[in-house]
Order: sequence, then C-alpha cells, then structure tokens
Amino acid sequence: MIAVALDGPAGAGKSSIAKELAKRFSLIHVDTGALYRAVGLYMLRQGLDPADGAQVIPRLPEVQITLKFSPEGQRIFLGEEDVSEAIRTPEASRASSAVSAIPEVRAFLLEQQRKLARENPVIMDGRDIGTVVLPDASIKIFLTAAPEARAMRRYKELMAKGIDTDYDTVLAEVKERDYRDSHRETAPLRQAEDAVLADTTELDFQGSVELLASIIGEKLNQVR
Ligand code: DC
Repeated sequence: MIAVALDGPAGAGKSSIAKELAKRFSLIHVDTGALYRAVGLYMLRQGLDPADGAQVIPRLPEVQITLKFSPEGQRIFLGEEDVSEAIRTPEASRASSAVSAIPEVRAFLLEQQRKLARENPVIMDGRDIGTVVLPDASIKIFLTAAPEARAMRRYKELMAKGIDTDYDTVLAEVKERDYRDSHRETAPLRQAEDAVLADTTELDFQGSVELLASIIGEKLNQVR
C-alpha cells in the first residue's frame, strides 16, 4: 500500500499542500493533528487540565473519535458531533499541544492511524508519521520553512480573517510551538533519516505543491 508520510513544524503548510497532493495522486489525506486537537477539545469540555496526565489518561477510553473522508477533505467527529471547526480555536490548539506530550495519548491514537494506512493509500501529515507511526512508509517528506516565513503566512491568514494581531506576536508563538513540539520526550518532531527535506521558505503555495508532487512522482516511479 502506498503511504506518504509528511512531517514538519506548525505552519509549514502541510495540511493544505497534502490536500492538493491527495487529489493529484488519488490518496486519502489524513490530518493527524486533528486527532490530538479532538482529544484536547474533549478534555477541555470536561473541565480538565489537558496538560495533566493524571486527569487526562483515565478519561481516554471515553473519547470516541471517528474520521470521515470525502473529496472535500477530512471531517472529524467526537461521538456524533462534527467538531471539524471547533478543534481550530486557539484554546483547542493549546490543549492539543498539551495532550500530545502525554505518551498515553500518543499510544491511544497510534493504532487508529496505522489502521487507516493499512486499509487505504494515504498521505498522512503530522509530526511523527515517518519516525513512529509509519516507519515503513514508501515515501517520507519533511516539510519545513524558516520560522519567519511561517509566521508571515500565519499573520496574513489571521489578518484576512479580521483577527487583529501583530507579526512579532505570531512569530513568538511559532517559535514557542516549534520548541515544544521538538523538545517533548515522546515522539518529538524530527526528520526521519530516510525522509526527503523540502524547504518552502522561498516558495508560494503552488510552488510548494509542485515541489512535493515532483518528489512523490519520482519516488513512486522507484517503488512501482
Ligand atoms: O498540526 P496541528 O497544529 O493540527 O497539530 C496540533 C498539535 O498536535 C500540535 O501541537 C502537535 C501535535 N501533533 C503531534 O504531536 N503529532 C502529530 N502526528 C500531529 C500533531
């Protein structure tokens, strides 16, 4: 089964690029960050501290996550409720980052991710897909861009949404999240040894899609 593992820091454009590539190569795009976001959101709603393993771990068996896929992309459900938008708030982002540092949370989500890749040709984006979730993935890409470039993209997105902020605050947040994601003990963000490095600092969205499409196209020729 074809599996593309796409890892990299927050704001590198993994999800939007993966969505495009999924269409082009007839793959299912799995956004694994949404799983951590759903766990974080669930814990927040229960009034728990998402950073406290002692509170979070005993409640994991209650968390019923379902992913549904369509050409428009992935939808994520907590029980019967579609939480695809609710997981995108700044509170849910912070909670997702907190729960993602708890090893039991990572273990809880691992089998669900592996099952998807066993049953479907996937492009799976996250932080530890090439290193932990799918170490045997046929294609591994580590997508990155300078923190300044990622912060500028994020800043423009927020301004377009009418959210008032300033570039320096966004840059500080990007750097803080990078630090947390790459310094946690369990499955920290790092490039797999056999991953291809793709740096999009100087590229726009379309240029980034073309770069990754050429990497995937070339690798597919080798595996087939
Ligand atoms: O990609 P994202 O911003 O939606 O991810 C939300 C959080 O989940 C982020 O803080 C890192 C974490 N995460 C992770 O630890 N492992 C993954 N495979 C995906 C996301």
